[in-house]
Amino acid sequence: MLYFLDSADTQAIAAAFDLWPLAGVTTNPSLIAREKRPLRDLLLEIRRLIGPGTMFHVQLLGSEAGIMVEEAQRLRDLLGDGFHPKVPVTPQGLKAIRLLAGLGFEPTATAIVSPSQALLAARAGAAFTAPYVNRLDMINGDGVGVVGEIARLFALHGLPTKILAASFKSVQQVHGVATAGAHTVTLAPDLLGPLLSHPLTESGIAGFLADWAGCYGPGHTVLDALATP
Ligand code: G3P
Repeated sequence: MLYFLDSADTQAIAAAFDLWPLAGVTTNPSLIAREKRPLRDLLLEIRRLIGPGTMFHVQLLGSEAGIMVEEAQRLRDLLGDGFHPKVPVTPQGLKAIRLLAGLGFEPTATAIVSPSQALLAARAGAAFTAPYVNRLDMINGDGVGVVGEIARLFALHGLPTKILAASFKSVQQVHGVATAGAHTVTLAPDLLGPLLSHPLTESGIAGFLADWAGCYGPGHTVLDALATP
């Protein structure tokens, strides 16, 4: 399973890509608008920060398929390899996905909240489908259940489309979609830490350090210990 960062905050992106095994960045119009920066500068900075070989998913805003195709072409000219147009699952969006796939793009169908939407997007030619987990859970839905159902349907019908699960507020939701068959998750920066940390891990490491310091000295590393005859 691949991990993406769901953010347009360049500081958070730089910090996260320094540490975490991330395959790319997803953004949405709300995340970009929050930065209050000229779009071209912001997108180019993100593209530079995340480095070559990573994916960058940027949402299209046109309400008509032809405009969306033009937006995607302009963004591909700007961002180059690894750019993936995100397209909302509307009727015009399905048409745009079909046209974009025909032009060699690998579009991501977004704002998905039902298996039917995901199936239609896959049939239109989406490379990724982005179901919104927490937004479903917040209205008493079953976000993980929807992801699992999409995974079963894609397997049943032999569809190559990947599931890029989005909209998370808890570690449990992320774990749930991983076991349900999501190929990729996109996470807000503040969810990365909780995904890794555990009090037993922390106390275990603290114990190792205390034992080591008792023998080789506080703060000493393997390098220090090897340097001492
Ligand atoms: O980027 C789309 C999705 O991740 C939105 O998440 O947290 O706004 O529900 P959220």
